[in-house]
Amino acid sequence: MVSEYMHELGSKKSTIRDIFEYGRKRVAEVGRENVFDFSIGNPNVPCPAKVNETIKKIVSGNFGENIIHGYTPAAGLPRLRVKISEYIEAKFGFKTGAENIFVTSGAAHGLVATIKALAEKGDEFIAFAPFFPEYRCFVEAAGAKFNVVPAKIEDFQIDFDKLEESVTPNLKGVIINSPNNPTGTVYSEDTLKKLTEFLCDKQKKYGHPIYIIADEPYRDIAFDDVDIKYIPKIYDNTIVIYSYSKSLSVPGERIGYIAVSERADKHREIFDAIAGATRISGHVNPPSLFQYVILECMDEKSDISIYKKNRDLLYNALSESGFTCVKPQGAFYLFPQSPESDSRKFCDRAKELDILLVPGDDFGCEGHFRLSYCMETSMIERAIPVFEKLAKQYE
Ligand SMILES: Cc1ncc(COP(=O)(O)O)c(C=O)c1O
Repeated sequence: MVSEYMHELGSKKSTIRDIFEYGRKRVAEVGRENVFDFSIGNPNVPCPAKVNETIKKIVSGNFGENIIHGYTPAAGLPRLRVKISEYIEAKFGFKTGAENIFVTSGAAHGLVATIKALAEKGDEFIAFAPFFPEYRCFVEAAGAKFNVVPAKIEDFQIDFDKLEESVTPNLKGVIINSPNNPTGTVYSEDTLKKLTEFLCDKQKKYGHPIYIIADEPYRDIAFDDVDIKYIPKIYDNTIVIYSYSKSLSVPGERIGYIAVSERADKHREIFDAIAGATRISGHVNPPSLFQYVILECMDEKSDISIYKKNRDLLYNALSESGFTCVKPQGAFYLFPQSPESDSRKFCDRAKELDILLVPGDDFGCEGHFRLSYCMETSMIERAIPVFEKLAKQYE
């Protein structure tokens, strides 16, 4: 026998992966130029040149390190943790001591460890639809309950009436993700003010801390000078999860960090519990080569002007074709309304034209579909007339 839950997780097909695989098959059949694959969020903008130069420098032995492929401390190289802490202070004007930084294998690892560290029997965690689908299994595998607050589809900010209905005294954590996957929405100052006031009230009422887990892999992919608030400055009980996957276009290298606010209740215990949670997940240390790379490349960013160009192109074209869509201010996703209420059916129709989309149901928000636009601009340009053709089917 095997664990039923793990078996279910491992054997259940991921819609996104399925669509992506289908896309590869179609490319072989009909040619790359005839397939419009908007399914997966794999950054297409190259990593900054300095990243590859640094790798070469490190592996050629010119980096002043004797052992570059060895084990490092579980929480990361001490000087990397110091550098991350200095970076946070310089960028956000918020002090997070190096002892509160845990370097991880990307944001997914940071989320798993943080949720596992916080969760006790009976605890609940909230996410706002639409949400990154992995949240559900991260929470459930930690033995906690996952509660979803339905979407506010007019602008994808937070529906506070629905939040009120979803909250119970067992609430331990609230996962927020801004800029958001799948909508690209950035939470406004007003939303965050209301959310933090709401949580402060509930903490008082229930007599225990409620943590915000700020999942921020898209923090550095934002447009139109939008202001992305640093949550620990406005809410003490915050744990920030950051990743270099998207900002440096290195998702396969698995590197990011957890920053536990030192204003958070029981922050030292939380940090130690995170270390414990990483131990039982088989984490020994974050990838050593990329810890050295980040030491040198922390200030580097991939060229996000390409994403902005793609956003404008696709948003304008879809709007002109009659699709309703909230204009994203960050990340590299669009989340329009499906012209038929069953978005799976709509995505199947799009598939007949070799446009590959992900139904919103997968993100806990029916009646919508997601497009990733971290794709070649030329593919988006070729897809526009095909979207027009698709939209005409609904006139
Ligand atoms: C919202 C969100 N959180 C976390 C992750 C995981 O990112 P990482 O590659 O850093 O593990 C992703 C990846 O797409 C994401 O979209």
